[in-house]
Amino acid sequence: MQNTVKINEDVTYIGASDRRLALFENSYPLANGVSYNTYLISDGETALLDTADASVMQIFMENLFYALDGKKLDHIIIDHMEPDHCASLGLVMENFPEAKIYGTMQVKKMIYQFYGVDVESRFVTVKEGDTLTIGKHTLQFVAAPMVHWPEVMMTYDTYDKILYTADAFGVFGALSGNLYADETDIWTADLGEARRYYTNIVGKYGVNVQNVLKKAAALDIKMFCPLHGPVIREDLGYYLDKYDKWSSYTPEDQGVVIVYASIYGGTENAVEVIASKLAARGIKNIKMYDVSKTHVSELVAEAFRVSHLVLAAPTLDAGLFPAMETFLLEIKRKNLCKRTVALVENGTWAPAAAKEMTAILESMKDMTILPEKVTVRSTALEADTASMDAMADALAASLNA
Ligand SMILES: Cc1cc2nc3c(=O)[nH]c(=O)nc-3n(C[C@H](O)[C@H](O)[C@H](O)COP(=O)(O)O)c2cc1C
Ligand SMILES: [Fe+2]
Ligand SMILES: [Fe+2]
Repeated sequence: MQNTVKINEDVTYIGASDRRLALFENSYPLANGVSYNTYLISDGETALLDTADASVMQIFMENLFYALDGKKLDHIIIDHMEPDHCASLGLVMENFPEAKIYGTMQVKKMIYQFYGVDVESRFVTVKEGDTLTIGKHTLQFVAAPMVHWPEVMMTYDTYDKILYTADAFGVFGALSGNLYADETDIWTADLGEARRYYTNIVGKYGVNVQNVLKKAAALDIKMFCPLHGPVIREDLGYYLDKYDKWSSYTPEDQGVVIVYASIYGGTENAVEVIASKLAARGIKNIKMYDVSKTHVSELVAEAFRVSHLVLAAPTLDAGLFPAMETFLLEIKRKNLCKRTVALVENGTWAPAAAKEMTAILESMKDMTILPEKVTVRSTALEADTASMDAMADALAASLNA
């Protein structure tokens, strides 16, 4: 049975949620699924904003026919040509052979790449500032390259003052009846999930997000309609502020996150001691994560959140513990910058972990590595107290600076 929600007189939510998916993009664990949002504007003419993932294709198509209410589909707008949104495009194109397709130049090429069909005769290439009027509603296209993929654009409805934001302002998690962010705590109660979505999916492209935020600031926006998660119609400033912080790599919290690796517990014990020393210096809300037990996507999000990181790892085969290396390469890939890092290494015969961590950190932008390093040989002993105190002092001084 169809399951649609009227957003206003002319706009209907026709997306759906997949609650079975365990890993988004086969990479990011989902505790409670994900939604694939799709919208239909029904005015003098009709316009569909993106399609949906293959997992929800059937209900999406049912919703589309229901919302069309016997009208034909005139326009298909492709803001993002990634399969989680375009997997149903083939079916939509077949069902509505007369509908024109709108997208950036890259979209046409990608339709061919994904479907092997030439859509030249029905494709309208649009660029920044171009508009499409379908009655009262005029849709204005806002280029948003690399706000996930290069072909991405956002669509601004000048009549409703809705910005269709593609992957931006999305969040993991299925929708459970409540469509609006102000009706569900899916975004705000667990901001960690919104942050994990942003940092892992779009995090690398902060500069591009900043460019779009500047363009959005010039528009009068009443609502964000993203491709995942709830529709945002209240307190838009809150979400804009988060996106501004995340995309400018500005820490949200002056605080310490400790990410450690440990085989036998020696390194773990060392960071427990350091954490207590930090607490004794008045540092609150210290978070500690075992890199082997915590999904790297959560660690990436935490690294974006705070100003200071303590990274601790034993030496393995004259190199770095693999999960720690993965984490470091991941934050490097996401272009994380402007953080202060303290390093703890362990090794029984030739400690080399700090050198390896330093090499990766030095290849990142604006990372400050504190000179107060701790080197543990097998297990921390009383003799290590001085270096641990020095590290705790340096972190406390840097945090209070
Ligand atoms: C597979 C393996 C390879 C290791 N390679 C090195 C090494 O190259 N250099 C070194 O100093 N220690 C090496 N170690 C020893 C650990 O770094 C050392 O025992 C460390 O104290 C472990 O810390 P933990 O108690 O936190 O696990 C290796 C240990 C294992 C299990
Ligand atoms: Fe995407
Ligand atoms: Fe997406």
